[in-house]
Order: sequence, then structure tokens, then C-alpha cells
Amino acid sequence: MEPRASHVEAVILAAGKGRRMVSALPKVVHRICGRAMVAYVLDTLAELGIASPIVVVGHEGDQVRAILGGRARYVVQGEQLGTGHAVIQALPLLEGFAGTVLILYGDVPLLRSETLDTLLAHHHAQGAAATVLTDLREDPTGYGRIVRDTSGNVRRIVEELDASPDEREVREINAGTYAIEAGALRDALRMVQPANAQGEYYLTDVIGLLLERGHTVAAVVAGDSHETMGINSRRELAEVEAVMRRTILGEVMDGGVTVIDPATTFVHAGVQVGRDTVLHPGVHLEGATTVGEGCTIGPNARLVDAQIGSRVTIVASTITKSSVDDDSRVGPYSNLRAGVRLGRFVEVGNYAEMKNATIGDHTKVHHMSYIGDATVGTGVNIGAGTVTCNYDGRAKHATIIEDGAFIGSDTMLIAPVRVGREGVTGAGSVVKRDVPARAVAVGVPARVIRRLPAAEHPVPEPVE
Ligand code: UD1
Ligand code: CA
Repeated sequence: MEPRASHVEAVILAAGKGRRMVSALPKVVHRICGRAMVAYVLDTLAELGIASPIVVVGHEGDQVRAILGGRARYVVQGEQLGTGHAVIQALPLLEGFAGTVLILYGDVPLLRSETLDTLLAHHHAQGAAATVLTDLREDPTGYGRIVRDTSGNVRRIVEELDASPDEREVREINAGTYAIEAGALRDALRMVQPANAQGEYYLTDVIGLLLERGHTVAAVVAGDSHETMGINSRRELAEVEAVMRRTILGEVMDGGVTVIDPATTFVHAGVQVGRDTVLHPGVHLEGATTVGEGCTIGPNARLVDAQIGSRVTIVASTITKSSVDDDSRVGPYSNLRAGVRLGRFVEVGNYAEMKNATIGDHTKVHHMSYIGDATVGTGVNIGAGTVTCNYDGRAKHATIIEDGAFIGSDTMLIAPVRVGREGVTGAGSVVKRDVPARAVAVGVPARVIRRLPAAEHPVPEPVE
């Protein structure tokens, strides 16, 4: 695709307030399957070999820059006076450029690179000054309409608010994606006036202006009517999310992953899942998560920025910014918070909470434990209810448990503390000092202090 894009510069409009979103955030940073909508537009351009597009940002532009960073060049549109006004802001960066300008809107994230390629091919084949991407809609409400003459040639684009009742009946809509020759674009933008219902400088007026001056204007009708969906409201955000989610799940399944119930499975853009992994209902794979091959995830699991090896089982648990190596099991009902590294063949059982902890191979943490700021060796057995008491009210302290140690049920490990290799703690012990290798530490055994009178402790009679 690259040769066709070589004389192409791209401009992405992303300065609009997005008033209809009712949000403090600029519209284009709202997320779809975990990624800002404007980032999808950059990804699509990158597939075409168009690097570093010009992004027009507005008042909250810092948030757009923070997300896109060095992937784009930026110009600021101080006041949002319309899409035409937005493109005018990009002209200084196009000074001296004589090729084709591809203009895209940052709120149309489903657009495919194949469609842009078709648009550019048609534009060049027709020798057009401008080519507009259109689509046919059952319900065209909210979009600009494509007005054609009786021979089917495009005459102009009319916005819904400016359209006559007849024009509103038109089902062909403006997708907001255009290929325009740089010189023609500069000339036409100079003539755009805000004489319309919204008092804005419409980019769409460029089409009619070019035709009036005898230029050729072409149109390409998009093949798949989802991809031109523009997002103006939270309702449309959810609609596009649903389309994107189906697309991502389709790709995941094509990669050899079983998705038991796509309706209740949520996978963010960019997540990697290996083949023969099974995703059960209620699974959420988010952020920079990767899952290896042959895993069983769910039912009900949320993985955020998690690195999961192969043949791992995770049931009804949450894992955040942590890694689980091959052949390990987590859950049900465990919460691995940030900074946990589980080795191979590790078993983390029911109701375990972990944070900032490294757990060696073949170690078992089966029941109701809190392990934080800890380094645990290999082949360690951590009994039910064990707690690393890592916080003294002022600072966090580390616990080290060496290879082969056996931690009895309900051990309180008062950090900083170390249990040496193959060391043992008795059930209920409160360990305040280091336990040397192979030593046994036992704490506070319960003593029988008195017998209760019978009345204080009635035992119900068995029911007949
Ligand atoms: C626009 C088109 C309409 C088309 C629809 C496709 C115009 C006048 N109308 O309408 O024909 O059918 O998109 O989705 O172009 N923006 C700026 N600066 C501004 C105004 C907007 O950067 O001053 C950006 C927005 O951030 C957004 C894009 O331009 O990414 C489109 O703006 P929006 O207000 O959503 O236009 P629509 O009313 O949807
Ligand atoms: Ca829009």
C-alpha cells in the first residue's frame, strides 16, 4: 500500500468539544475497547504507511497529546469554529506540499485502511480535486447528506440542520473522510463562510465550492456501513464499542481461542491470547494483557495489564499489573494486585490477596492469605489464614520466606522478617524475629483457663 500513500499527508480533526457527550473530557479521548477513539484513526493510517499525521487539537488538547505522544504532529485550534476552520489551522504545516491531503475525523474510529486505500485509488484514477467517502444509511439522522444531481454526480454536502425536507430524505451520508489536492484545498478553504444554521466554517462546503469552480469531485461509497459510524453521544459510543468488541473477539477466535460466550466476554484492543486457550463467560482481558496457550480463563475473571504464561488456570479472580508463569492456578476468589510474580506450578487458592510479591515455583498459597511485600521461595507451603503484617502504621516492610519453608495456618509474620530454608512455623504463631533454616517457631499456644457453667453454653437438643 505504501507507494500510493507516499504523496499523501493526513490531517485528523480532534478539537471538537463533543458537547453531546456531556463530558469533561475531549470527545476523541473517550475509550473504545480500552483505547482512545482517536488512536484507532492513527493505527489505520499507520497500516497505510502514513506516519506522523497532523492532529488538530483544542483546549483540552494536552489529553490528546498525552495519549498519542510522538506518533503525531499537533496544531491547536483555539476556538472551535467548525471543521473547515479546524483544517485551516493545519495549513501552515502543509506549506509547499503539493500532494493529496487525506482528512479524517477523530470520532470515526471503525474506518478500515482498505477503505482509505480504495478512496485514494479512486481519487487518483479520477484525477479528482476532491473525493469524499460516503455511506448509505437506513437512518441517516445526524449526518451531512450527499446531494447528487439527476446524472448521479455529487453537487454538494448539506448538514442536517441546513437541509430541506427533501434533502433530509437522502440516505447517502458524508462519512467525514476526504482526499483533497493540497492546492485546491487551500483555495477553497479561503472561500468558506459561516453562513449556516450553526454559524460554523464547514469543511463540507469545500465540495460545493470546488464544483462551482469547475473542479472534479468524486465519491466512494464505503462497503461496510459500520465503519463510517461517527460518535457524538454516549449511546453511539456504546454502539461502536459493541461493533469493535465483536471484531476483536472474531480475531481472537480466528487465532485459535475458544470463546464460550462472546456476549459476556470482553477483550481490549491489543490484548494477545494464545491458541487453545478457553475464555469462559464473564472474562475481561484489559490493557496490555497477554495470555499464553492452552489456558483456562474464567468463568468471571478480570485481568488488567497481566502477563499470563501457558496452561494457566484462572477462576473468578482479579489480576492487575502482575504475571503468572506456566502451569500455575489462581482462584477462585483471589486478588493479585500490582507487582505480583507467580512462578511455575504455583497454586494460589481461595480468597488470597497478594501485592508486590514474588512467589517461587511449586509454592502453594491455598486459603485466605494476605501476602504483601514478600519474596517467597520454591516449594513453600503457606497455611490457611497466613498474613504478612507488612505495615506498621508508618512504613512497609519486607517478608522473606526461603525455599521449602512450611508456614502453619494463621501465622502472623511481623515484617521485616525472614523464615529460613525449610523453616517451620506452628499454627497461630506470631513471628516477630527471623526463623533460622530448618528451625521450628511456635507461638502462644492456647491454654485451658476454666470450665463454663452449663447454662452459659446451651447445646440445642436434637430435633426428632
Ligand atoms: C460532521 C460533518 C458531517 C458528517 C459527520 C460524519 C461537517 C460540517 N459535518 O458532522 O457532514 O456527516 O461529521 O461523522 O464537517 N472538530 C474540530 N473542530 C471544530 C469542529 C469539529 O476539530 O471546530 C472535529 C471534532 O473533534 C470531530 C470532527 O471534527 O472529530 C467532526 O465534528 P462533529 O462536531 O462531530 O461533526 P458532525 O456534526 O458529526
Ligand atoms: Ca461527529
